Amino acid sequence: MAKARVAVLISGSGTNMAALLYAAKHPDCPYEIVLVASNNPEAEGLKLAHGEGIATFARAHKGVDRDAFDAIMLRQIQEAGATHVALAGYMRILSDAFVEQWEGRMLNIHPSLLPKYTGLHTHQRALDAGDTVAGCSVHLVTPELDAGPVLGQTEVTIRPDDTADTLAERVKMAEHQLYPRILSAYVSRDRDPEWLLAQVRERAMAQPEADEVSSHGMPCFGIIGGKKFAYVSVDHHGDGKTALLVKISGAEEQAMLIDSDEDRYYRPAYFGDGWIGIRLDLGDTDWDHIADWLAKSWRAVAPKKLTKLMDVAGKF
Ligand code: GAR
Repeated sequence: MAKARVAVLISGSGTNMAALLYAAKHPDCPYEIVLVASNNPEAEGLKLAHGEGIATFARAHKGVDRDAFDAIMLRQIQEAGATHVALAGYMRILSDAFVEQWEGRMLNIHPSLLPKYTGLHTHQRALDAGDTVAGCSVHLVTPELDAGPVLGQTEVTIRPDDTADTLAERVKMAEHQLYPRILSAYVSRDRDPEWLLAQVRERAMAQPEADEVSSHGMPCFGIIGGKKFAYVSVDHHGDGKTALLVKISGAEEQAMLIDSDEDRYYRPAYFGDGWIGIRLDLGDTDWDHIADWLAKSWRAVAPKKLTKLMDVAGKF
């Protein structure tokens, strides 16, 4: 299975980047680091990455406006062929355009138990508040600062004699354990059959009168008391694929789809010309597109009385 390709952005010592990088040396790690980039040419972490044979890029942001600077970074990341971005102590607010480009594929580590203490001085604020636990969070990056969905957290006990520095040191240790773990789980997720099936289920069950059944051990979705409109094929006869099978118009459409993208589309064995297999495990599935396929397939098997009702409802 191809590894996810991660670009790491840093501004300082880069110890989290180092944790991600050394975890990636393990053969089982589902990601590799393809670039370490920084807005600070003096960032210590750049030397470490370079010494480990990782491509690096640095450009000082001073005097360059935010959009132009982010466009420079974006180009580097794209040229490195990154599939994901990991922010690791990258102390610059990103432009909305950059965040949108990577939405769902960009993670950050933050030294607090979010949603507590977004922004800076997290340790001092935890101490000032008299908290007994601090910690760190890995979250998805969304346009609002430190507010994206939390993917994982580690609690760190606060000791009575802690200062912001002593606490920061222990939180860092926790960060170094947490980040590689969460990043690994996250990039594996879109190849995990259970997660992929759950994504299909959510969209298939949103169709009118949809029902989940199982056929020869294959999860499938049909219309209650009627025909099936989708199957999820997981390692069928050991083919190693996770795919969605949906109805199409026939041999011509099937050939056209396979021709347009032969890595993604295939002729599902035993299903004939009226179905197409769509790989879900390539790591770049467009889930809106899958929802459209499911709606189209549902329509192909739905009894007239149901589609008529839908058409009437659609007019209002
Ligand atoms: C880490 O503690 C990270 O959580 C924090 O900066 C430090 C970077 O250290 N990030 C933020 O505060 C982001 N809001 P590192 O350069 O040694 O990885």
